[in-house]
Amino acid sequence: MKAVVLVGGEGTRLRPLTYALPKPMLPVLNRPFLEHTLASLGKGGVDEAILAAGYLPEAISSYFGDGAGQGVRLTYSVEDSPLGTAGAVKKAERHLDGAFAVFNGDLFADLDLRDMLAFHESRKAKATIAMTWVDNPCPYGCVETGVEGAVRRFIEKPRPEEVTTHWINAGIYILEPEVLEHVPPGTHHMFETGLFPFLIERGETVFGYPLRGYWLDMGTPGKYLRLNCDLLQGRVKSAINGIMDEHAVLLGEGCSIHPSARVEGPVLMGRKCQVSRHAVIKGPAVFGAECYLGEDARVERSVLWQGVKVGAEAGVKECTLGGGVLVRSGDQLTSRAVVSSRVRKGQTRSVSFLSESED
Ligand code: GDD
Ligand code: MG
Repeated sequence: MKAVVLVGGEGTRLRPLTYALPKPMLPVLNRPFLEHTLASLGKGGVDEAILAAGYLPEAISSYFGDGAGQGVRLTYSVEDSPLGTAGAVKKAERHLDGAFAVFNGDLFADLDLRDMLAFHESRKAKATIAMTWVDNPCPYGCVETGVEGAVRRFIEKPRPEEVTTHWINAGIYILEPEVLEHVPPGTHHMFETGLFPFLIERGETVFGYPLRGYWLDMGTPGKYLRLNCDLLQGRVKSAINGIMDEHAVLLGEGCSIHPSARVEGPVLMGRKCQVSRHAVIKGPAVFGAECYLGEDARVERSVLWQGVKVGAEAGVKECTLGGGVLVRSGDQLTSRAVVSSRVRKGQTRSVSFLSESED
């Protein structure tokens, strides 16, 4: 089966992390997020993925190329201006044959795609929408189902008084190619507010497929951090590349940890990190390659990208720190996403708080 992965949105809610990197390239457990998605597609029987890209597409294609090494052949469909979720798939239509899958490019799902396909075929559905259960459906699309999972209504971003179910659109679909006949070419069109309500209205066979496994949309700084922490804590076993030791610590080559430093797992460290005397790391925490922790520095429940330096006695708690960020000695950072495109001596650009509501 082929799959279209929607990797085109600008990811504005993930700012500042997406200033220089598109969402699919944000490191999750020290690997680009999209690498996790492609691994899961390969396992689910997908042999070719069409990446519907728009925002910083070269950052994606220069890393992934034609997919060699990922186990899934990659084709790129690049939009000059955003065509919306359905418009982007319409643009990629010539690459498709037969029933195909669509994935929002910002979600991590522990999904059995073969089982979803069997469900889709057994119902003779035109469209099957994977659903997951959340406490607060308002930031998502609500999927109301009836007999045997037939979708009765689809309400995108409902107001609280419009919520009639906690089952939401998980952003994964299996579609028959003919549904794209209802999507106008070359114009902005959304599945969520356009095609799906249209198909339901016409009485087409649209079904909801309930997911039971782990699912998270990582499209905000808080959820991005949560995803890293959840995976590190073993919520989805296959996500960690390598084997943790008995303290749930996995160090890259050439790391040096001072014997007086305290490292409480789960902790994942890239190559050549240095942890100085009396520093404390309280997991879950991820360090990219070549991070440095000064004496008595403390890092807790955080994700540090490559080359981050935390000065002596500085504290970092519930933060995501972009590549090369420098935390000055004694500074205390809590609940922040910080990037620094240019680190001048003793200066970092700290721009965002993780203040969005979580569910
Ligand atoms: N190629 C392309 N072009 N991709 C796009 C475009 C576009 O114009 N617009 C959005 N995307 C991609 C985004 O990059 C993302 O991967 C995906 O489509 C969904 O967009 P988001 O902006 O993240 O939407 P959302 O999270 O608010 O809502 C969507 O996902 C929820 C589940 O996470 C909807 O599908 C909801 O119904 C759903 O519940
Ligand atoms: Mg999203």
